[in-house]
Amino acid sequence: MTPPPADAPQGSESLAESVRRTLDAAPQRWLSPKWLYDDLGSVLFDAITHVPHYYPTSRERAILEARSADVARLSEADTLVELGSGTSEKTRLLLDAFTATGQLRRFCPLDVSAATLAAAAEAIRAEHPGIEVVAVEGDFLHDLDRIPTGGTRLVAFLGGTIGNLTPPEQARFVGAVAATLAPGDGLLLGTDLVKDVDRLLTAYDDPIGVTAAFDRNVLQVLNRELGADFDLARWRHEARWDAEEERIEMHLVATEAQVVRVPGAGLELKVEEGESIQTEISSKFRVERLPALLEPAGFEVVEVWTDPDDDLALTLARIPR
Ligand code: SAH
Ligand code: AVI
Repeated sequence: MTPPPADAPQGSESLAESVRRTLDAAPQRWLSPKWLYDDLGSVLFDAITHVPHYYPTSRERAILEARSADVARLSEADTLVELGSGTSEKTRLLLDAFTATGQLRRFCPLDVSAATLAAAAEAIRAEHPGIEVVAVEGDFLHDLDRIPTGGTRLVAFLGGTIGNLTPPEQARFVGAVAATLAPGDGLLLGTDLVKDVDRLLTAYDDPIGVTAAFDRNVLQVLNRELGADFDLARWRHEARWDAEEERIEMHLVATEAQVVRVPGAGLELKVEEGESIQTEISSKFRVERLPALLEPAGFEVVEVWTDPDDDLALTLARIPR
């Protein structure tokens, strides 16, 4: 399968610019996964985290339940930053552990999804009135300079969201986080691990259809925001496993030939039956390769924890003092 071009700008682009660059690309049409998260998309992602076939959330929660106190102690952080924070639901475990020691001063969630971010920030302000909550509506690929400075910071990037970046983007992102941090600051990184392919495919094409709805909603985003005329009934969700790249790909596949107009991006697409739009990649990792992701950027790995089934890894790394 063809990876999307990895070195083009994404975050600073508008939806129209991004769609103009990617949706008519050959040999593979694609969309940046960040467009999946309009208000409805964020609600649908939250619903996915409750689907039993989608194991990453429960596995990461199990690790956080067991290890949040260790994370607080080892990181010595007084500021917790969360990138791609969403509802920050699992992060409550970290917030509780960090407040139990009395070390936490600030929490800074950063997300592109404004309504979800605002709701999470408001709820956490109410739950932890002694903590300053600085919500940043932004793009984690472009807005790291908007993270507050000072104190000792721990940047959490949970849920395996780093897997939604291509390998070159992952390396650039880890480098950018390292460049933003100071000696003694840390990174807490959740990575989903390679596992049985059938389990992976079921997690990304669940029998309830929640993941399919999450995926197909992106066409509705283009219809609403760019005046596109996608007929959602003529697109179906498909999860594919790329064994070479060790990643899931989400595709929307045209069930018949059609012409789609996207006036807001100046596009008219002539789509063949069976042609697809790649809407997301979700790379799966191997524990033994995590140092190679983190160390070239200047991080030292402090601890790697996995859940009892070895489904997901949580890595604490830091910039040496
Ligand atoms: N961290 C949560 C949510 C993961 S879903 C968890 O582990 O369950 C991915 C989150 O990242 C969504 O909230 C989405 O809005 C956000 N997101 C996706 N691309 C982004 C980007 N480029 N910049 C900032 N946030 C992004
Ligand atoms: C946010 N991200 C880590 C999810 C994942 O598993 O790659 C997004 C998702 N796509 C389909 N289901 C969940």
